[in-house]
Amino acid sequence: MKYLFLLLVAIPNFIFAQSAINNLKAPFYHGVASGDPLIDAVIIWTRVAPININKSTINGTWKIANNVNMKNVIQSGDFVTDNTKDYTVKIDVQNLQSNTYYYYQFEALGKKSIIGRTKTAPKTNDSERLRFAVISCNNFQHGYFNAFRMISNRHDLDAVIHLGDYIYENRESNQKNKRIKRDISPTTEIIDLKDYRMRYAQYRLDEDFIKIHQQHPFICIWDDHETANDSYKDGAQNHQPHEGDWETRKAVAKRAYFEWLPIRNHPQQKINRILQYGELADLIMLDTRLEARDKKPNDMYAPSYMDSSRVMLGESQRKWLLDALDNSEAKWKIIGQQVIFSELNVGWANPFDRLKTENYLLDIWDGYPVERLKIIAHLEKKQLENIVFLTGDFHTSFAFEVTKKPLNSTVYNQETGKGAVAIEFVTPSISSSNFDEVMPNYLSRRFEKCLHKSCGGFPFFYNKNPNPHMKYADLDRNGYLILDITAEQIQANFYYVKTVLKLSDKEYFGTALATKSGKYHLEFKPENTSKTNIIPAPLNINNFEMPQIISGIHQKSDNIYCQIYTKKSNKEGDFCLILNDENGKQLRIFPCQFKDRTVYTVHFSTAELPKGKYSLSLNLNKNERFYFEISD
Ligand SMILES: [Fe+2]
Repeated sequence: MKYLFLLLVAIPNFIFAQSAINNLKAPFYHGVASGDPLIDAVIIWTRVAPININKSTINGTWKIANNVNMKNVIQSGDFVTDNTKDYTVKIDVQNLQSNTYYYYQFEALGKKSIIGRTKTAPKTNDSERLRFAVISCNNFQHGYFNAFRMISNRHDLDAVIHLGDYIYENRESNQKNKRIKRDISPTTEIIDLKDYRMRYAQYRLDEDFIKIHQQHPFICIWDDHETANDSYKDGAQNHQPHEGDWETRKAVAKRAYFEWLPIRNHPQQKINRILQYGELADLIMLDTRLEARDKKPNDMYAPSYMDSSRVMLGESQRKWLLDALDNSEAKWKIIGQQVIFSELNVGWANPFDRLKTENYLLDIWDGYPVERLKIIAHLEKKQLENIVFLTGDFHTSFAFEVTKKPLNSTVYNQETGKGAVAIEFVTPSISSSNFDEVMPNYLSRRFEKCLHKSCGGFPFFYNKNPNPHMKYADLDRNGYLILDITAEQIQANFYYVKTVLKLSDKEYFGTALATKSGKYHLEFKPENTSKTNIIPAPLNINNFEMPQIISGIHQKSDNIYCQIYTKKSNKEGDFCLILNDENGKQLRIFPCQFKDRTVYTVHFSTAELPKGKYSLSLNLNKNERFYFEISD
């Protein structure tokens, strides 16, 4: 049995001196990020790629300023990081002014990070308008993160709310199923801590991912794919017994999430929390996945469907939520959560097997009807105003008036919204597959049309509106929504990107819906996200001038994974990664031809390599070497 022992030996300083570009990018390959703004504090984040893995700690400094050129530094400090947190850095900067833009930067190993921009939350009376981007579901293999770039170009936002599926755990798709060539690493399904860390490291090399984090603070919650598909407290659809113990997998997935995201640390790694935005809004973030969720039911027509013991939030989180709603003094109580809360009727779409079709969709709140009814009953009883659910997960755009019985006209009036107890906006996916990618185009369009209208005819033969509480539906487009909030109304503006199949900066306004304060009635509105002119963090990210870099190598069993970021495509026949022995003798050249900018991973087995020291380098810069060692 061989033990592979990675040794990222210090890259000599003279190499950096040879390349101004390298000076700018190393060792902060993954940029910067910020998150969880309070009125007087915000998290700032970075990662310092280890140059020498044997060096147990890396020391560095951070600073925060109120001007973009970092001249007017108002606070600074030191940090220490190491392998126990995957060389990530998270600082909870305190004693800041409310409702204020700040700029921040890190320094370590003699190099500076890019400058990030962030913003603190407003206190009472600070702000008459709030604006959030609401996003979810950025699957790297399914498409480019063009929507991230469009959001990074906006300078009118208080924060970005990410509702989950920040990474996907799946193995690399086989060649014939690929719509685009976007390689992931590792190529296998991620299961242990090294896997999850490597996947975050790979996703976060994406240039548009770096840009969106650089410009805006994030408020994040996980959904299922940060652990495994359709996860719940005690398991997941995509977790099999041969993949080991679920509790272990869940724990390492949570750990990597807290390492890599700019979320405020929590001793039990809970993500349900409240972010207060002055007198306008409380953001109440939930964990509908890992905290307490029971396994979903298989059959909504079985008696067990109404089992009152099956929960999604669990009793203590539900009580916490209802208390938070009761005690909130904010105008709008915004619940950020993962899965569709409103009833979603789809059985009509398959006249041959209605029951089976409904049963496909029980991972959402439809699978937990008793707990949902308890929440709706509370909202009714307390007559709580201005409750808004924000939802991701479903890779579609929807707007709902939330009601106990959408099909019962004595309970709910679809013309006036009477009988509704909340509003729900479902944000489209950034890049993950939409309905038109899993079913024929014409069927997806027909399904979309008939989902909230009376259609009839081929192929559905259903003559009623199955979802009268659904006011807007789009099943096929990728994008995001901008939530615009004033004391008078809350409005969701849906934006869509032209494509996710290639890099593009084309987007367009789709539609907008709003409800007035004190009502739960959605109406279509014109776009209302007029741009403001806050100075962005410097957009010239010099890191990306280098056509190709090695951003790190990872070891797992008898395999080496080398993550390479590339901007320019190689000419055919070029080679990029070279394996040398310790005497500098070239052992192997790995072919890699890049199309478009991408993150590329070369992996190879070391099982046949004899004991010794080895190095990897790119032929564009043979002096920049990463070393590893194999020993018995
Ligand atoms: Fe998703």
